[in-house]
Amino acid sequence: MKIIRAKDYSDMSRKAANILSAQVIMKPNCVLGLATGSTPIGAYAQLVEWYNKGDLDFSEVTTVNLDEYKGLPRDNDQSYYYFMHDNLFGKVNINKERTFLPDGMEPDGEKACKDYDRIIADVGGIDLQLLGLGHNGHIGFNEPGTAFAAQTNCVDLTESTIKANQRFFASIEDVPKQAYTMGIGTIMHAEKILVVVSGEDKAQIVKEAFFGPITPKVPASVLQLHRNVTIVADEAALSLL
Ligand code: GLP
Repeated sequence: MKIIRAKDYSDMSRKAANILSAQVIMKPNCVLGLATGSTPIGAYAQLVEWYNKGDLDFSEVTTVNLDEYKGLPRDNDQSYYYFMHDNLFGKVNINKERTFLPDGMEPDGEKACKDYDRIIADVGGIDLQLLGLGHNGHIGFNEPGTAFAAQTNCVDLTESTIKANQRFFASIEDVPKQAYTMGIGTIMHAEKILVVVSGEDKAQIVKEAFFGPITPKVPASVLQLHRNVTIVADEAALSLL
């Protein structure tokens, strides 16, 4: 596990974007596993800037996202589909047919999960998976406490996740209570994993996840077992180490 120390959020974003762009340059037809949440926004903005300068070409890149809220249509500005189009896909020359997320509007959970697993298998697996870190140690929407699910699954979001995401919705009642998420097994199969973390409020979970015991109570702790993980974190997030 390699930890890259960044000065602050913008330094973290630039360093993470460097790793993502190196992947695209070295393997133009790579499969990127992408994440939502506020943490990767700066890295996406940096990629868009480099693309606009002519330094990056996404035309052969395929993406699979970690998760999607169940029941939010694509045009809802809180859906992860919308987020990805707003922050990245709509701003670079990626082939939209090759950008995948779980289908949040598929009401049949079993079907939605199976379909997404098939997509991930069909694209041939993930070269580089980007991850944010939830305050309770969740990755994607794999919440603490349950056995690590290997594949895509439908999860009931925890109180703390619903509360954390409330800031993006008009009221807490509007926050979806369920989501489809790529499973820990699939995440662990990615060739490389890049975790981005920023802020003092993540310092405690950084310590627990990467320096504490490996346990389903802290889903991100499983990453300690992966052979190629890079964590790019700012000083505030590393302040308890
Ligand atoms: C959400 C997403 C996660 C993300 C997490 C942290 O719940 N499903 O993929 O990593 O929030 O978000 P943030 O980066 O905003 O702290």
